[in-house]
Amino acid sequence: MLPGIAMKRVGAPKSTPKSTPKGTPKGTPEASRVETAQLVLPGLTNVHGTIFGGILMQWIDVAAAIAAGRHAGGQVVTASMDRLHFLEPVHLGEVVIIQAQVNYAARSSMEVGVRVFAEGRGDGLLGRRQATRAYLTFVAVDGEGRPREVPPLHPQTAEEKRRFQNAVRRRSVRLRERRAMKRANE
Ligand SMILES: CC(C)(COP(=O)(O)OP(=O)(O)OC[C@H]1O[C@@H](n2cnc3c(N)ncnc32)[C@H](O)[C@@H]1OP(=O)(O)O)[C@@H](O)C(=O)NCCC(=O)NCCS
Repeated sequence: MLPGIAMKRVGAPKSTPKSTPKGTPKGTPEASRVETAQLVLPGLTNVHGTIFGGILMQWIDVAAAIAAGRHAGGQVVTASMDRLHFLEPVHLGEVVIIQAQVNYAARSSMEVGVRVFAEGRGDGLLGRRQATRAYLTFVAVDGEGRPREVPPLHPQTAEEKRRFQNAVRRRSVRLRERRAMKRANE
């Protein structure tokens, strides 16, 4: 733990964020939002003709890192990814839509929520459906790879505030797990 890291922000900040020139409120979950689209090409699938889990995890990690980097205004590293459940197989030729946004910012770490959708094969058999959901923690780092502070997050909508509060709960679980892991490794 670095000096001065003990303070945690756990309540939604009350101040009103300034707008960016484009009109997106700065420091909000919306300002960090990322949506990517990928096509499941041959070479990305397993013998069942569905996408490799590891490829999907890579796409999730990249989209989430972009969202975290936007909020942090600089370099970030992936600290952890919560448990990941693959809810639906994603087939060759389908389109994968990945939506990521920062749910919560603490001192140097941020939780990014990611939703992954698979979009139909074009033969009308499969429509858009949620393939998975993930929560990742990123840490903003300086040039030496040391954690550095990030701006507070200003959730605006009821949905963003709900995600913020849920992220606070998940963070306390992660911190508990991390302490237990450290104790076990001592
Ligand atoms: C992530 C990393 C920078 C944390 O450094 P550290 O010296 O352990 O820093 P600290 O203990 O001071 O923790 C810094 C923050 O990270 C959070 N954190 C660290 N490890 C975490 C984990 N496994 N899960 C969730 N949060 C974590 C802490 O809670 C703290 O958050 P806060 O500042 O918002 O309160 C360091 O462990 C690291 O560089 N890991 C490798 C990252 C990497 O290579 N990722 C893959 C490629 S990008």
